Amino acid sequence: MPKTHAHAQRPREQWSGQLGFVLAAIGSAVGLGNIWRFPGVAYENGGGAFLIPYLVALLTAGIPILWLDYSLGHRFRGAAPTVFRRLTRGKGEILGWFQVTISCAIILYYTVIIAWSASYVWFSVDRRWGEDPAGFLIGEYLQAGDPGISTTIVPSVLIPLVGIWVVAIAILALGVQKGVERANLIFIPLLVIMFLGLVIRAVTLPGALDGLNAFFTPEWAALTDPGVWISAYSQIFFSLSIAFGIMITYSSYLKRRANLATTGLVVGFANSSFELLAGIGVFSALGFMAMQSGVPVAELPNIAGVTLAFIAFPQIISMMPGGQLFGVLFFGSLTLAGMTSLLSILQVVSAAFQEKFGITPRQAALRIGGVAALVSIALFSTTTALPLLDTVDKYVNEVGVAGSAVVMAVVVTWVVRRLPELQGHLNNRPGVRVGGWWRVLVGVVVPVVLGYILISGIRTLIVEGYDEYPRWFTNTFGWGTIAALVVLAGLMTVLRWRRSPDDYQPEELPGLHGDTREVGR
Ligand code: ALA
Repeated sequence: MPKTHAHAQRPREQWSGQLGFVLAAIGSAVGLGNIWRFPGVAYENGGGAFLIPYLVALLTAGIPILWLDYSLGHRFRGAAPTVFRRLTRGKGEILGWFQVTISCAIILYYTVIIAWSASYVWFSVDRRWGEDPAGFLIGEYLQAGDPGISTTIVPSVLIPLVGIWVVAIAILALGVQKGVERANLIFIPLLVIMFLGLVIRAVTLPGALDGLNAFFTPEWAALTDPGVWISAYSQIFFSLSIAFGIMITYSSYLKRRANLATTGLVVGFANSSFELLAGIGVFSALGFMAMQSGVPVAELPNIAGVTLAFIAFPQIISMMPGGQLFGVLFFGSLTLAGMTSLLSILQVVSAAFQEKFGITPRQAALRIGGVAALVSIALFSTTTALPLLDTVDKYVNEVGVAGSAVVMAVVVTWVVRRLPELQGHLNNRPGVRVGGWWRVLVGVVVPVVLGYILISGIRTLIVEGYDEYPRWFTNTFGWGTIAALVVLAGLMTVLRWRRSPDDYQPEELPGLHGDTREVGR
């Protein structure tokens, strides 16, 4: 018999129903990655041709790993450390904590981009950047210096950053149903309305067609470049919120008879549709800018990453009649999409601490949110923010998330050999049936393809470094971050469980050990 424990009596939180989960899962997937990352990544990696590796990545790894996350979270009923502990009879807890520490790292810079976006909603109203959006962003707003370490706090970033943290912690403290689910119920419809308004306005601008041509014209040579494939896989992982604990945690709050497999398809395709729509909207607007400036789209500067959203878009907003509204829609969409994803990443950390240390959602939100807020403020409201954010984002995604996915697939398939059990779990519920090909994708294709991509990505980072940053900088903040995540995960694993990880087992995990039959509701 598992130990009884005071906390064991507290029932596990649940979504109110399937819709609450679907909205939250879409809210998690659709985020900065769709609006801020995808258009630039696609353009830099072959334009229309990028859609091929992107779709291959979605179908061979994205949806299969999403299903793996769902089945793990739902069958083993917990945050990532609890799930991997149960899955591996205790030995694999560190993998769960590694996913949690990845989420911690992402949270630190993710909040900062949301804070910038929220500021720019405000700046759009009077087009605060004047004639020089680049000078305004780098010089005035971020007060960015050379890559180096600085402790100079920038108040214009600090204030919105504190605001974002206060809102996020307050929602998280209310718990899964009253906090996260309700927030998604309000934010997602609002986001869809604002975003559709934005895209419709963008495609009706003069020059939009040139932008779309630039976006969709395939550069076939890109397909032979392994870097393009690495970008496609890491975009899919980041964008679908997989392999860093989010979907494991979210699906653990689903009711027993919930539909998992069809929901995964709905979430996966909704996310990619949103992403494509973002590409269409962004490139239509870039086409307009190119026409106004009398240059081809390909010669426009600033069409990737941070500069696309915070330099190119302000320029477009300034050129456009009624651009203020367009700006509010664009930066408002970024803020809302970012908030719903942020909540999901925070929930990964909060749930892990609740379960290991037997604390309530409120205690977890205040303690973990408080510490994370301080670290994020200390690191990212300084003048070092821009290069730091860029470097951490690159290494955490291309090494951390991809590595976590490969290890997870190998452990489930080849070490504990429980993939058939998880397939049974998916198929014992309403929804589409998952065939044996899923086991081939998770057990063979993901480890081999993603493993190769991961190793060649690591090799490139070691040999060539990243971008123009000095080696000491990428070694400290790129490799240093990865090392810190592994060490922290190890430390968390060896700490003592205050609450038995078996607390939920008696009534909630019937037939857990190797039995694929479903027992009870
Ligand atoms: N899935 C989230 C995004 O795309 C993390 O931003």
